[in-house]
Amino acid sequence: MRSYVWNVYFCAMIERIKALLEEVAAFTASSADEVEQFRIAFLGKKGQITQLFADFRHVPNEEKKEYGQLLNQLKTATQEKVKALQGQLSGSKQTKGALGDTTRPGYPLAVGALHPISIVRNKVIDVFSRIGYGLSSGPEVEDDWHNFTALNLPEHHPARDMQDTFFVQTNPDVMLRTHTSSVQVRHMEANQPPIRILSPGRVFRNEAISARSHCVFHQIEGLYIDRNVSFADLKQTLLYFTKAIFGTAEIRLRPSYFPFTEPSAEVDIYWGLATEADYRITKGTGWLEIMGCGMVDPQVLINCDIDPEEYSGFAFGMGLERMAMLLYQIEDIRMFYDNDVRFLKQFTSAS
Ligand code: DAH
Repeated sequence: MRSYVWNVYFCAMIERIKALLEEVAAFTASSADEVEQFRIAFLGKKGQITQLFADFRHVPNEEKKEYGQLLNQLKTATQEKVKALQGQLSGSKQTKGALGDTTRPGYPLAVGALHPISIVRNKVIDVFSRIGYGLSSGPEVEDDWHNFTALNLPEHHPARDMQDTFFVQTNPDVMLRTHTSSVQVRHMEANQPPIRILSPGRVFRNEAISARSHCVFHQIEGLYIDRNVSFADLKQTLLYFTKAIFGTAEIRLRPSYFPFTEPSAEVDIYWGLATEADYRITKGTGWLEIMGCGMVDPQVLINCDIDPEEYSGFAFGMGLERMAMLLYQIEDIRMFYDNDVRFLKQFTSAS
């Protein structure tokens, strides 16, 4: 027989389960988080339904059936609710498609920049390609013949000292090229005139690193060989070039000496003296040296199996770091190799 007190208590439990059934039926959620909170509150270890199941053993046998059925109903309803809501919410994610939420603002992409040396190299290539120059390249590790001897710099020639050389494994015949003039030799050995090439590349000299010089830098070599090529052709080509790159055709050809050209000259452009910086970089003269050039020495042609009676030509060589320093007013050559993004990203819009 049920006691009166038990009867009241039992009725209250049944009412509570029924109330919970209503609560479960009415529950809605707008996020997976809310569903999880709900699941824990009802079905979790200390959840309400779990508590009610724990009470089951105190229920007298004759009441177990009614209590048990109702409780199972509550548990199943809750589980189904959780499942349905979880499905709904993850389903609503899928409706956003494989790309996720296409309405969200985009992530900002950092725009890269060409290195200033690449920018200047491309400019020079572009200018010369318009008058028919192609590209030619050679190895950075060279032999003595291509770097020196074929260029009229035989062993013990004093001009070798001008280019402090890195030798490879103390072998005097193997070195890092000290200039891109070595590519002239390789190209002439492999091709007969007419020749019109540019050779951009990295060169190496055993020099102390400072704001003005580096042991690794870049040059562009130019070479033009054909019948009847004269110094006037060289000068005209230089005028075309300085106009395109520096915007000035005011140049000066200073007699100079290179073993592989005869006659040889150094090319100055008139930079001007408008600002204090102009005084500094031109040492107060207004003139700036930008490259070396000359008529290819007949002996160099012979060394490369080209007949100097039939052909003549000119060559020129320029340093890319120097050019970039002038064009972009860069004061220290080491900046090209520091890879500091604050420096590099200033060239984002240059091309
Ligand atoms: N090779 C020279 C240097 O590294 C630059 C140069 C001067 C190249 C005159 C030439 C030239 O082709 O004709 O200093």
